[in-house]
Amino acid sequence: MEARDFIDLGGQVAIVTGAGQNAGRATALELARHNTGGIAVNDFVAERAEAVAEEVRALGVPALAVPFDVGDLDAIRAANAAISAQLGPATILVNNAGMAGPNASIRPSQTFWEEDPANWERYLRTNLYGVYNCCYAFIPNMVEARRGRIVTIVSDSGRIGEPKLAVYASAKAGAQGFVRSIAKELGRYNATCNAVSLSALMPDMPEEQLAEVMQSDHAKTMMSRYTIRRYGKSSDVAGLVTFLCSNAAEWITGQTYPLNGGYAPSM
Ligand SMILES: NC(=O)c1ccc[n+]([C@@H]2O[C@H](COP(=O)([O-])OP(=O)(O)OC[C@H]3O[C@@H](n4cnc5c(N)ncnc54)[C@H](O)[C@@H]3O)[C@@H](O)[C@H]2O)c1
Repeated sequence: MEARDFIDLGGQVAIVTGAGQNAGRATALELARHNTGGIAVNDFVAERAEAVAEEVRALGVPALAVPFDVGDLDAIRAANAAISAQLGPATILVNNAGMAGPNASIRPSQTFWEEDPANWERYLRTNLYGVYNCCYAFIPNMVEARRGRIVTIVSDSGRIGEPKLAVYASAKAGAQGFVRSIAKELGRYNATCNAVSLSALMPDMPEEQLAEVMQSDHAKTMMSRYTIRRYGKSSDVAGLVTFLCSNAAEWITGQTYPLNGGYAPSM
């Protein structure tokens, strides 16, 4: 007997933001394997979005690269129109773009009161306004189709707190509160809205350098806080997000799922 894929996206078109690398890329590719009508691959960096769109096409699934900054509502609206014309209206939205925004790496720096207020905006623009903007642009497709899925990637820094990342953490916490309310507005349209809260993913660096980092006291202390003693993988994110986007998850909404290997913060 042929095995049934219970993770079935029902032919819906999906957009994944920040999908040019790591967790977003893995998610776009995983969605492509489960009966989607097409994947729109967003990234601020156009070449990254195009490269991942090409990988999706290689799986036999229609794909469109839609480079834009999630902080730019007009650009998102234009992308929505292009996706509708070329793939069909997107009714699955994965808000994955995050961290410190385009061209900026996230590095704990100073305590909140020592940080330059000019740094606040880049965290809020991508991690909070980016989620508002994408929901604002794509939800009408879901209302019209009377079905849809939104999954927003947040962070355990927003659930638990993280020193020297207070503004990032607050943007992620805000996104969680936002999606809970959106879930209530969308229920009558058979559309669900959830968040996935990550702890640290595997640092993006060459294997040799990573092996060295993993030997450090800092890494060992950090790993001791995880029941499953490793960093998260992009595939961990892709698996849970794809499940939440599928028909199998139609009665799950308004929730935040920690995806963290059983992480428990130190006291
Ligand atoms: N990496 C971690 O340890 C970690 C931990 C907790 C939560 N998260 C969250 O998980 C998600 C994915 O993390 P990752 O490590 O795979 O990210 P990453 O930094 O490796 O990739 C993010 C991608 O998003 C793009 N991007 C950034 N800002 C954008 C914007 N404003 N508009 C469009 N594209 C933009 C970047 O160009 C990049 O390609 C993010 O939301 C992040 O905040 C990550």
